[in-house]
Amino acid sequence: MLKGTFPVEKLKAVQTPFYYYDIELLKKTLGVVKAEADRYGYHIHYAVKANANPRILSVIAENGLGADCVSGGEILASLKAGFPASKIVFAGVGKADWEINLGLDEAISCFNVESAAELEVIDSLAAAKGRVAPVALRINPEVDAHTHAKITTGMKENKFGINLSLLPGILERLAQMDNVRLIGIHFHIGSQITDLSSFQNLAIRVNEIQEDLHAHGYAVEHVNFGGGLGIDYYHPNHLPVPAFDTYFSVIHRLLNVRPGQQIHFEPGRSIVGQCGSLISKALYVKEGETKKFVILDAGFTELIRPAMYDAYHRIENITSDEEVETYEVAGPICESSDVFGREVELNRVHRGDLLALRSAGAYGEIMASQYNCRRLPGSCFSDTI
Ligand code: LLP
Repeated sequence: MLKGTFPVEKLKAVQTPFYYYDIELLKKTLGVVKAEADRYGYHIHYAVKANANPRILSVIAENGLGADCVSGGEILASLKAGFPASKIVFAGVGKADWEINLGLDEAISCFNVESAAELEVIDSLAAAKGRVAPVALRINPEVDAHTHAKITTGMKENKFGINLSLLPGILERLAQMDNVRLIGIHFHIGSQITDLSSFQNLAIRVNEIQEDLHAHGYAVEHVNFGGGLGIDYYHPNHLPVPAFDTYFSVIHRLLNVRPGQQIHFEPGRSIVGQCGSLISKALYVKEGETKKFVILDAGFTELIRPAMYDAYHRIENITSDEEVETYEVAGPICESSDVFGREVELNRVHRGDLLALRSAGAYGEIMASQYNCRRLPGSCFSDTI
């Protein structure tokens, strides 16, 4: 079995379950995304929601990316990790007043606005401070992302963004406001998108929307394509760095960029997904009537993606090279959805073996919970372990 490379002896000394991050791979991924984006002058804001581990954030900040935040907590974490406020954008369908005020006080670069009601609130909070808030309108482009229903966002029926039919009214209202300034338009159609034709459709739709805006006398400085580029959960050892070259070139080929316009992206998963693994210990190998179970000391409290989205994560026994057997791999949580994989081929498992759940760098540690009064997982890093 082709497995990832892990410093197994060192990992044995760490209390399980924990996240192990390959910092070299993270840096390599950042190098590639930057180089590919630079070819077209594209700007990258990392979607902090994917992983806000302080060390991960600071490596990303050091590499010059901006931060895409969806809460006041993420803005504070990003500032602490070293992202300058001028590279922080604030999105999210439910911004609380204190979060908007924080963004105004810190002079972040843009509020991505999701509704007419939110625009009114930002205008009045900015007026109270004598400020003018830079805003981008998040438009729901009605483009299908062909991804899991729970992570698709760009359709009419989703709660996200401003419906196209409401845009003219909002633009008219915006023109009367003194404390917001329209600088951009923003889109995000979903996550774990592997069919690039969805991005092609988005680029075509953005052209149409821009033409319409232009015809009505509006020009924007920024066009933000959101995130969504998927990763290969099945082959983390073969393709650790996502194909940013193809992704950007698809958009570059189709998108009509207006003079002086900046194009922004907000990748999360594609930056951090492959650099993280959840490391867990086999507590028991349990014989069932029809199958064998491996019961781990990690459950959906540490990695919720399989239970929540039926997501696949490759699982490897990193402490055994024995013959391969088939197991159901489950966690200790008292719920039947606490299963990581049903017919998993693993080198024979013994109590105490370490199993790696791969491609868990995005939406893993950050979505951990304390259900069943469990401790949150720790983390360690390839360059400091
Ligand atoms: N921008 C916006 C406005 C977003 O809503 C998201 C993700 C991103 C950027 C980053 O998308 P990415 O490049 O990571 O696909 N917890 C789910 C994923 C939820 C994604 C939410 N929004 C999962 O584990 O699959």
